[in-house]
Amino acid sequence: MTNQQRAQFRRRLLQWYKKNRRLLPWRKTSDFYSIWVSEVMLQQTQVVKVIDYYQRFLEQFPNVKTLAEAELEKTLRLWQGLGYYARARNLHRAAQILLDEYDGRAPNSVSDFKKLPGVGEYIAAAVYSLAKGTPLPAIDGNVKRVFARIFEIAEPMTNSAGERAVNQAVRLVFDDRCPGEFNQAMIELGALICKPRNPRCDDCPLSPFCASFANSTQQDFPRKKNKNPIPERRLAVGVILNEGKFLLVRRNPFGLLGGFWEFPGGKIEAAETAADACARQIQAKCGIAVTVGENIGVVKHSYSHFKIVVQIFLCQPVVAKLVLRDHDDFVWVNFVESRELPIHGAHLKIIEILKKEELK
Ligand code: ADE
Repeated sequence: MTNQQRAQFRRRLLQWYKKNRRLLPWRKTSDFYSIWVSEVMLQQTQVVKVIDYYQRFLEQFPNVKTLAEAELEKTLRLWQGLGYYARARNLHRAAQILLDEYDGRAPNSVSDFKKLPGVGEYIAAAVYSLAKGTPLPAIDGNVKRVFARIFEIAEPMTNSAGERAVNQAVRLVFDDRCPGEFNQAMIELGALICKPRNPRCDDCPLSPFCASFANSTQQDFPRKKNKNPIPERRLAVGVILNEGKFLLVRRNPFGLLGGFWEFPGGKIEAAETAADACARQIQAKCGIAVTVGENIGVVKHSYSHFKIVVQIFLCQPVVAKLVLRDHDDFVWVNFVESRELPIHGAHLKIIEILKKEELK
């Protein structure tokens, strides 16, 4: 971006803001405390909801001293319905600290203000830029969205690379001479024009600078966080047949699926065939050797944090003396008898496969 483009960016933004800004109550004041209260309320909460709360709160607690000296309960009552109540507790506590240590006034240094409970990077930058003209960019979710689109920032806003990229982008065009106006204008643009779902690009003063507008990629930015893929566990189990019955083992009462019955088996290691894993797991967990036969199918099943893919083998027992290691009981059952037992979902699917095998 050339200097001329930067100047034009700022000019267009500030002109648009002058014409289109909403006359919100906290925009009529430069009082540090009032602006602080508004910014705390506006975190995580829509402007329309905040207005009444803000006015009632300031009527009751017009300055740091009245808030600091109020009962916490009264503060919470005035916050009731606004949600995220830690904000109110922090604000109350922070007011007490300001009264004790700063005579109820704003600390001279922003970094001292940031030591107060509930005051993070955004709140500090917003309050100091709006109330005192301190040249700090206030970057909230709205502003991140606007810049992610203008510069087609490849990283999601949720990781540190994304945050760094937005910071750099904002600093490129930030207006040191009127930081409060600039910050309010960016926030307002995000709220009214560069909306999450239906951005009004035709009315946007920054569309000539916007890569997403040029490329019609508004919906692709900001990038979504890559959700971690749900891990998949590969398992092998044996249907050990003996005189018309099959073996089920019961899981220990504690832990995942405790007390449920299942076919014996377990995890397939990376360098192992499913059939080898089947024999090895049955030997380890039930103390018996089996001959692994036909693979009769595969079952997929999902749990909340992982999914399993289970290979199913018909097996013949070689030695039938069972010694259980992970389970606390075993039975030899036929289909009818198995219906009496609690069997967990994935293994019920195995029984269905077995029934089909029987009919072949
Ligand atoms: N959201 C966060 N800060 C705001 C402000 N000062 N005006 C409007 N919306 C906001």
